[in-house]
Amino acid sequence: MLPTLETDRLILRPFEISDASEVQRLAGHIEIAQMTLNIPHPYPDGGAEIWIRSSKNNSREGSGFPFAVVTKDDGQLIGCISLNLSKPHRKAELGYWLGKPYWGHGYSTEAARRVLSFGFEELGLNKIYAIAMVKNPASTNVMKKIGMQWEGELKEHILKWDVFEDIVYYGIRKSDYESL
Ligand SMILES: CC(C)(COP(=O)(O)OP(=O)(O)OC[C@H]1O[C@@H](n2cnc3c(N)ncnc32)[C@H](O)[C@@H]1OP(=O)(O)O)[C@@H](O)C(=O)NCCC(=O)NCCS
Repeated sequence: MLPTLETDRLILRPFEISDASEVQRLAGHIEIAQMTLNIPHPYPDGGAEIWIRSSKNNSREGSGFPFAVVTKDDGQLIGCISLNLSKPHRKAELGYWLGKPYWGHGYSTEAARRVLSFGFEELGLNKIYAIAMVKNPASTNVMKKIGMQWEGELKEHILKWDVFEDIVYYGIRKSDYESL
């Protein structure tokens, strides 16, 4: 089951069906869809409910840990951060998006640091990695700030909206994390 985690300014908690309209409103911004692979645009009615139900199943099975990122001050849902596990390899992919009004305040870095410690200390992972399009420096900055290191770049590896995009991998091993 998905726990609730806390940072200085944020609560990371399971999504509830009642979050669906905010998820649709925030993730529906074109600049979120533009930089991610799995967020549709326009965001369809009912899509957030389906996503929340399937993400709850994933956390029940222990294969995915999608946290709603909520501000402590006012309980506002501002985004999502998740770990998707590959259990045989004791590794997980970190993914995140934040509603556009909340960019640039260090929230993603703060949430990502907490999820990293959850992954290593509570899930017993050996490695956590993240993938971004090369044209997404905000995302790669988050990766660098939490101690991930550049592992490689794959040229024209994905087709996004009719353009072949280069992607970059960043990662951190448990041994690196322990010496941060
Ligand atoms: C990527 C994203 C989650 C970052 O969220 P955020 O809370 O604004 O991130 P943070 O404030 O913690 O850190 C972002 C860093 O990138 C920097 N940054 C932001 N835009 C930048 C740009 N265009 N070029 C270079 N650096 C940039 C910020 O200055 C900050 O670094 P700093 O703290 O050293 O100043 C957010 O922009 C987003 O949701 N984007 C759309 C979805 C997405 O890209 N998801 C990730 C897919 S891999």
